[in-house]
Amino acid sequence: MERIIAVANQKGGVGKTTTAINLSACLAEMGKHVLAIDLDPQGNTTSGLGVDKDEKENTVYELLLGESTVEECIVPTVCEGLDLIPSNVNLSGAEIELMGTEEKEFILKKQIDLVKKSYDYIIIDCPPALSMLTINAMTTASSVLVPIQCEYYALEGLSQLMYTIDLVHERLNPELILEGVVFTMYDARTNLSLQVVENVKSNLNQNIYKTIIPRNVRLAEAPSHGLPITLYDSRSTGAESYRMLAEEVVEYGKNE
Ligand SMILES: Nc1ncnc2c1ncn2[C@@H]1O[C@H](COP(=O)(O)OP(=O)(O)OP(=O)(O)O)[C@@H](O)[C@H]1O
Ligand SMILES: [Mg+2]
Repeated sequence: MERIIAVANQKGGVGKTTTAINLSACLAEMGKHVLAIDLDPQGNTTSGLGVDKDEKENTVYELLLGESTVEECIVPTVCEGLDLIPSNVNLSGAEIELMGTEEKEFILKKQIDLVKKSYDYIIIDCPPALSMLTINAMTTASSVLVPIQCEYYALEGLSQLMYTIDLVHERLNPELILEGVVFTMYDARTNLSLQVVENVKSNLNQNIYKTIIPRNVRLAEAPSHGLPITLYDSRSTGAESYRMLAEEVVEYGKNE
């Protein structure tokens, strides 16, 4: 059965997009059929997968507004086996335009239900907010993966995020679970990174992925070339660590 994973954390800049892009690419590299959905008006997943976000007329915005069909929105990416529903800045107006729409929490779900059978994994990159867009991701998803940046304020806002996941689970999507948290931008040269990992581990009673994503300059460079790390620098530590994460994600799904 397909798995739909929302990559979410309302904190900005914690590695959501980097994780969504590279987890998707690594799953595709393993031979899985993957759909990435860019649900952020910043469109960084779109450009990071080599798709020109300002050129696309059928984006997730048109999808949510009912102006395009889901089939029209799906485009191929630079990675074999990895498709994308792109996004661009237009999406920032969606929240207001959808006010008053019936069942607006389920707009994305209803569309993805039509195509999910064609994929093994669907990875949704959420914007840095607990907004209607993120709620749409959570009603569509079967699980939420939470990237946590290894920095001092890592735990800030996390309880609010857990509470939101619980609420969606109770009221909107009984299938939804917290897939787990993954540490990102780990810097082995500082004590702080290690302290953050230890602190989160002792405070958070959730699945924590064994794979820790290191701070790796190749991961930061790749998006400017429109490539996931697997194609930009396949042997970098960034690529190797996202491959390990992808394997863990696959294994986790088997035990569910
Ligand atoms: N492991 C890493 N090593 C080095 N740089 C990284 C790593 N992960 C992310 N970055 C960089 O950190 C910045 C923020 O990452 P990213 O865009 O993935 O976060 P985000 O949570 O999606 O941000 P936003 O909340 O704005 O959507 C980017 O410039 C990205 O290239
Ligand atoms: Mg992002």
